[in-house]
Order: sequence, then C-alpha cells, then structure tokens
Amino acid sequence: PVYDKPLIYYPLATLMFAGIKDILVIVKPSDSNNFQNLLGDGSQWGVNLNYQEQKEPKGLADAFIIGRWFVNREPCSLILGDNIFYGHGLIENLSEAAASSSGAVGFAHPVENPAEYGVITFGNDGNPISIAEKPVKPTSRWVLTGLYFYDERVCDIAADLEPSDRGELEITDINRLYLEQGTLKVTKLGRGFSWFDAGTADSLLEASNFV
Ligand code: G1P
Repeated sequence: PVYDKPLIYYPLATLMFAGIKDILVIVKPSDSNNFQNLLGDGSQWGVNLNYQEQKEPKGLADAFIIGRWFVNREPCSLILGDNIFYGHGLIENLSEAAASSSGAVGFAHPVENPAEYGVITFGNDGNPISIAEKPVKPTSRWVLTGLYFYDERVCDIAADLEPSDRGELEITDINRLYLEQGTLKVTKLGRGFSWFDAGTADSLLEASNFV
C-alpha cells in the first residue's frame, strides 16, 4: 500500500484519466492471483482489465512482445505499476498524448538521482536530443518517467530489440528509436508536479508520506 491504498490504483487511475478503458495488466506469475483478486475485471470502474503473466523479468519493452495480441496494431500506452503522477494539468497532458496518432510521447521530470533512470537531454529549442538508460555520468537532471504513449509501430520495434548489458529489453531503446526518427515528443512535468517511482522501500515510504 501507498499509505491507505494499493500502489497499483495510482497508475490505473492515471490511465483512466487518459481516457483509456482497455487495459492489460502484466504481472509476474507469483503475483498474478493477488492482482486479479484485488482488481477483478475492472467493471466496477467502467474499465476492461485483462491479465497476462510475464514469466521472466526480461525488461519493460517485453510488454510489447507478450502483449502484442492485446495491442493489435493500434496506438497504445504503457505505464509502470509503481509510478505515481500527481499535479496540475495532468489530465490535459494525458488527453493530448492519448490523442496523438503518430510517433511517441513521454513525460520528463527533474530528479536528484538521474543516474537511476532513463536520462533525457533537451536541446535549446526544448526538443529531446539524447536519451540514455542509467548513465554513469548523466548529462541532465531530467528523466523519462514510466508513462509512454506509442503509435501502432511499437510492437514491431520491440520485436527487433536486442537485450541490453543488464540482459533486459529496454524501453529506452524503443524511445531512442523514435527520437532518432524525430518522432519522440517529451512533455516536461516541472514545477508543482510530483512524480514517484515507488519501486524501492525509500521511495514507497516517501510516496506514502506525500499521500
Ligand atoms: C525504468 C526505465 C527508466 C525509467 C524508469 C521510470 O527503470 O528503465 O528508463 O526512467 O523506469 O520509473 P527501472 O524501474 O526498470 O529501474
């Protein structure tokens, strides 16, 4: 729980704010029953929840390989189950991203410890010029949060990825491809906006205190 509610409620609510109703929840096998018992089929919230197990932790981009049948050549969104977004203008930002039909949209937030994330560097015109996964020497404080919108090409792009040095299919490699094609749009969630990747004990506690 994040204070008094399950962490998964937050990313689910974020997708709902974006107007997304068809959602595939990808979980590790040992957690599968817990999630299904907690969330059910989603009809209580007017959404349609489906489930799929990721047998091995092969990386975030694997979502587009095991979830290919679900995406079914349509634009889609990926949110990480431990990401919490809170702040002014969120619904407007999400609606705009969900309405874009080509390329990819990501959201950046400044952090103190960029080396732990996908770091994004912006050019003078405000457009992203580089992206690096957990770089030893980050070139920026801005990191890409765990919420991404893609056009219908994303599953084909994921299918061609090679595992990184840490043995994972990296979402950053998908984003870099869109960036190199000039079709990655990154919206800055700056001042007055809070974002948590609550995947560690410390950040989970921080998120609970915030809530
Ligand atoms: C993942 C992504 C990273 C992104 C982060 C956001 O990191 O690989 O690019 O910035 O989520 O939460 P991970 O949680 O796998 O360390």
